Amino acid sequence: MDKEEQKRIGRRRFFQRLGLAVGACAGAYADARYIEPRFIEVSRHTAFLPELPLELDGMVVAQLSDIHYGPITPEATIRDAIALAVREKPDLVALTGDFINNRTHQATQLAPFLKPLQIARFGVLACMGNHDYRRGGAVAKILQDEAGVRFLRNESTFVAPGLAVVGLEDTTNGRPNAPQAFAGVPDSAACLYLTHSPTGIWGAMRRSCVALSGHTHGGQVRIPGFVPHHAVGMAGFPMLDGWGVFDRAQLFISRGVGMMHRPFRFLCPPEVAIVTLKRGDDVPQKTSDLARRAAKRAEKATVRVYRWLT
Ligand SMILES: [Fe+2]
Repeated sequence: MDKEEQKRIGRRRFFQRLGLAVGACAGAYADARYIEPRFIEVSRHTAFLPELPLELDGMVVAQLSDIHYGPITPEATIRDAIALAVREKPDLVALTGDFINNRTHQATQLAPFLKPLQIARFGVLACMGNHDYRRGGAVAKILQDEAGVRFLRNESTFVAPGLAVVGLEDTTNGRPNAPQAFAGVPDSAACLYLTHSPTGIWGAMRRSCVALSGHTHGGQVRIPGFVPHHAVGMAGFPMLDGWGVFDRAQLFISRGVGMMHRPFRFLCPPEVAIVTLKRGDDVPQKTSDLARRAAKRAEKATVRVYRWLT
């Protein structure tokens, strides 16, 4: 083979690999922009509370977080997420904040979407997210009046004898007060704790409870080999999604439904979490975490492609 021939083959190989790399980038872009934001995972979990009354053993809680109604999150995703939650016939719906993106009137637009959740016999309970503090809590009032969502703001309520739901004000834009929130809940009661930011767990870890949170969006865009974006106030927190045990409290972080800042999700699909509460003292298993497993597979594939290209 002469030199000219070798050069031609080298050039052809270079352009083939360049085409492959451009194709892979275009595919990843299309996935993150158009496919994954609509690909909702219904994740299923069992959480144990030793104080749970026997008659509530097996009750189902549907959690939706970070809906972010506004120009970035597709309405179809919100509608589908709510339909998926309703299909599970939950006993209770927990909405863990960030209902709107950035305008108060988005709460009025969101309200009709939330109405079907009223099928839950113990109601629709919520805590505030950092995006929900516009105009002095108007978002909570609108959703309470127009969609029957009950906000717990540093307060608790008994939804059934022996089961309390506690809600914390947001740790970034609100004035959280965990002792005040838990004040009416004796240690003998089972406790479901709603805190938008996972950092709200620091105020509750000395008591037995199942805490549901969001805020992180699971990182929203997870590019293998890169550290995902950390939401405000989350620097140094040890987890982005799934279950963790903090002393006596069990914390679950949802990846949420909507998106913030940019309309992309990559290796981090939206999530509707279905949590079955059981009487007992087991600790939660680590979540199946679809996104983490997908990221690991993608990382291996990326390494293989990189080796092949170089
Ligand atoms: Fe959010």
